[in-house]
Amino acid sequence: MTQPKKLIEVAMPIKEISSESVRDKSIRHGHISTLHLWWARRPLPVCRAVVFASLVPDPTDENCPQAFRDAVGSLLKEHNGMDAYKPYDNIPYTAVVDPMEDNLRNRLLMFIGKFSETYIQKGESTAAKDKLSNASLIKWDNKNDEEIIGKARKLIWVAHNAKNGAKAVDLLTDFDKHYKAIKDAEKDLYMTIDRHIESDDVRAKEAKLADAIESFLDKMPRVFDPFAGGGAIPLEASRLGCRSFGNDINPVAHIIQKGSLEFPQKYGKPIVYSREEFVKRYGEDELKRVSAENSLYAGGDKVKIDNRLSFDVEFYARELLRRAEAEIGHFYPADDKGKKPIAYYWARVGTCSNPSCRAEVPLLKGFYLVNKSDKQVYLKPIIDGNKIDFTIGKGKSDAEGWIKSRQLVCPCCGAATGTNELKRQSINDEYKMKMLAVIDESNKGKVYRTPETKDKEIINQIPKSETISEEIVKGDSRNLWLTLWGIDTWGKMFAPRQLLAMQTLVQKLNEIKQEINVESDYGKAIVTYLGIFINRIASRETSFGLFNTIAETIEHPFGRQAIPMVFDFPEPSPFSDSGGGGLSQIDWIKRYIEVECISPFSTLLQNASSGEKEQFSAKSITAVVTDPPYYDAIAYADLSDFFYVWLKRTLSDIYPINFATPQTPKTEECTALKHHHNGDFGKAKQHFENKLLQIFDAIEHQTSDVVSIMFAHQSTEAWTTLCNSILGARLNITGSWAIDTERSSAGVKAKQAFLSSSVTVSCKPANRSGFGDYKQVKLAIEKKVEEEVAELYGLGFRGADLLTACFGKAVGEFGKYERVEKASGDEVTVAELLEMTRESAFNALLKGFKGDDFTKFYIGWLELYGFTESDFDDAAKFSRVGLSINVADLFTHDIFIKNGNKQSLADAVHRNEKIKRLGESADASLIDQVHKAMSLYKGANRRDLLAYIGKVAAQPDSTFWRVLTSLDELLPKGIDDQKQVSGLLENKDNLIRESGQSRETTEQQGLFS
Ligand SMILES: C[S@@+](CC[C@H](N)C(=O)[O-])C[C@H]1O[C@@H](n2cnc3c(N)ncnc32)[C@H](O)[C@@H]1O
Repeated sequence: MTQPKKLIEVAMPIKEISSESVRDKSIRHGHISTLHLWWARRPLPVCRAVVFASLVPDPTDENCPQAFRDAVGSLLKEHNGMDAYKPYDNIPYTAVVDPMEDNLRNRLLMFIGKFSETYIQKGESTAAKDKLSNASLIKWDNKNDEEIIGKARKLIWVAHNAKNGAKAVDLLTDFDKHYKAIKDAEKDLYMTIDRHIESDDVRAKEAKLADAIESFLDKMPRVFDPFAGGGAIPLEASRLGCRSFGNDINPVAHIIQKGSLEFPQKYGKPIVYSREEFVKRYGEDELKRVSAENSLYAGGDKVKIDNRLSFDVEFYARELLRRAEAEIGHFYPADDKGKKPIAYYWARVGTCSNPSCRAEVPLLKGFYLVNKSDKQVYLKPIIDGNKIDFTIGKGKSDAEGWIKSRQLVCPCCGAATGTNELKRQSINDEYKMKMLAVIDESNKGKVYRTPETKDKEIINQIPKSETISEEIVKGDSRNLWLTLWGIDTWGKMFAPRQLLAMQTLVQKLNEIKQEINVESDYGKAIVTYLGIFINRIASRETSFGLFNTIAETIEHPFGRQAIPMVFDFPEPSPFSDSGGGGLSQIDWIKRYIEVECISPFSTLLQNASSGEKEQFSAKSITAVVTDPPYYDAIAYADLSDFFYVWLKRTLSDIYPINFATPQTPKTEECTALKHHHNGDFGKAKQHFENKLLQIFDAIEHQTSDVVSIMFAHQSTEAWTTLCNSILGARLNITGSWAIDTERSSAGVKAKQAFLSSSVTVSCKPANRSGFGDYKQVKLAIEKKVEEEVAELYGLGFRGADLLTACFGKAVGEFGKYERVEKASGDEVTVAELLEMTRESAFNALLKGFKGDDFTKFYIGWLELYGFTESDFDDAAKFSRVGLSINVADLFTHDIFIKNGNKQSLADAVHRNEKIKRLGESADASLIDQVHKAMSLYKGANRRDLLAYIGKVAAQPDSTFWRVLTSLDELLPKGIDDQKQVSGLLENKDNLIRESGQSRETTEQQGLFS
């Protein structure tokens, strides 16, 4: 029987998913990203939507089982007494005004995500949390909603089991029976007094629960993520009740996954202790604490703990801190009133290269400790000869930093010390460290003071700790540029007292392990979280941490996917209860466990390189949903060694195989990093493609249905590799969706190859037939691309996001054939295909735009690339697309800024700086005129502006205004160019009117030429 298409192959509510995905980036409490840092986590809404849509059929497909249609009809009728999934009467914020047809497919889309009435009425001013309706599956607030998640599980269940004419009502009854068996077994087990003590009764109840879960999962799809990373995709597959599998090659990722996808769901459950047992385990003090929290009942005889796992993790983490503090707490001396600091502020100190000065200068880029509207605190330098000291100032600081344009400008003599000399001093270990300030907590927030003598003297008494001698990978100056400064071992990222604190915590954990039954899986779970806890402390307790001067918080060094060189840093006291200290780290872990403990379904995890065909038997996986590494964008293994070296010291006895290697495994990692291949980028690319091909090949063998792949890289090269691997593994692309995931449009301005959206392509085994004629295939692709551009453009997608979404469509068309040939008989390659797709997208975007070629080019380029950097070749290719301009002219007209063999689009400021009389020649292009007007507007030069408008844009329908409108749409909100463009547009009527008057006056005065 022909299989119906899956929903993901035909439709997705991408605007709704984008909206909630953007919100997801700012969610903190209990969110998976807050348990332990991992790079480039996918937002949960997109993962939940993609998993769901990969598992359910399109109800309007003629081959869709009737049972599924009936289930959609009955389950997506109402929620809380409302017709919550009724498709929109008027599709929000699109040009489409027709009502969205009320059919089953659209109801399914509205179930995944639907904009709320508030949003429909108020638009973007709606608070992020209110944009989606309360009945939407992907809404953060619904992650544990039994009814909404239950509907999704039921729909998946019916879709998966609707064979041989089975009826929806019978399938749903069967679901209820299986689900109830789990709930009953849970209740039975979790209410058993003292279930932590092994007994036949407890074992039988545990087995009953395990059986109930197994027999439920036996009837649900099997979903696999071969690149599970921080775990967002398998978490959502489990939440939806699937049998979920996740692989990752990286042991750090594996530990994070155990803490996120396995232990909370297995062990984060209630427990009831007899009073006696409780006291035996935790002591009288703990009994007092819990009785204050009303955990005692049955006349004080029983203690009920809502979440056994989070309770134990907190108990042992506090114990760990207590023991460490008893040993080294005196190295963080209290002030005269007995108050202990929460943090210290330090700087590395370089030496001025002027031989007659040689001042020891703290390498500061600025002096603010706090810089917010209602509070400003700064370090106030006191300079005496070549001696530098500081007091604390309040209010505005006028001083400029001493590190400027990558050199040190000595505040004592004014001499400049260049980067090379600063690096030399760092490499030769000549830097000293200077404590500049001490941070205390008061009831009015943080207060800053100069260090007292005892704060400074204690540093000389810090005993030397064993260092961490494992080396930081060299040759990756993009991600790990601190190695260029001689920071070449992980131990060098810690100041002496920080290293002491870290090593003491490790030692105390190893002591505590003796008191926990680490032979049991539950004991392992507790210790795993203690390892995660120590890692969280390490990421703040490093001399590469950062102090956020606006939020007054201590942050880890991995704000980007890199570890930059840092000269000044905060050192939190691990024993303080303020943010950055140990206790707050416990809180983050507890919150995650408590949020993700509701579901009974956990993920089966493997710490291995994917691509082993034997891992699953043929076609035994229902769907793969995954997010492979983005080519060369993130050096996962190299960066995560920062954490690996600590986990090796805390958990290698518990997980000996995972931590057998000195550092994370690198050779099998599926990335295109040239420093892993002796600097040869060609080899790195080939490695990535081979590895991806091997993994997709295994997946094709293992999977019976859809393979959904998320990818967030914009370069054609990265896409060529991805598509080669998909096609090489005998898969073809059947659907392609761009989903916005970033908070702001910063990505458009930032010169990086990451997309602000990720594109998800759904693939199925290819059904290839015969040879395709390039001409025919090209026509078909052009048509598809034109449709795609029109649709996505209407939905607000721009730039590379829009382009890469077209890639998916084009490859789908191409992959229908065994081979596509040109008239010469030569085979068309994927690289050629994607290049042709770019051209088609560019043409589709420029369709109907009337103007000179430079302006067309500027607008088209802005749409596709924004201000990101791209390869020189791209410009050459583009200038050929239906335009008659020479690529060299783009540089002479300063349309582009050249940077080596790359270029990026120049903005108005740059162009006006470079071309003195921009827009003034008789044959000036429209973009020159617009940029000129923007500069006059910015300079508040109204008289000249009016004269200029009178000359080039005196009519409301002048093409000049249309170009401005296009720019207004395309430019990232908030950047300078966009402000001027929108300012000009807002004043359009006045400007035209006044320019007319001013022309008349000047004509009368005979001044205007
Ligand atoms: C883009 S990340 C996945 C992020 C994940 N979706 C999340 O939300 O956190 C890609 C992951 O692939 C892993 N990886 C790289 N090569 C691998 C291989 N050969 N086998 C398995 N995993 C691999 C990396 O360690 C990384 O965690």
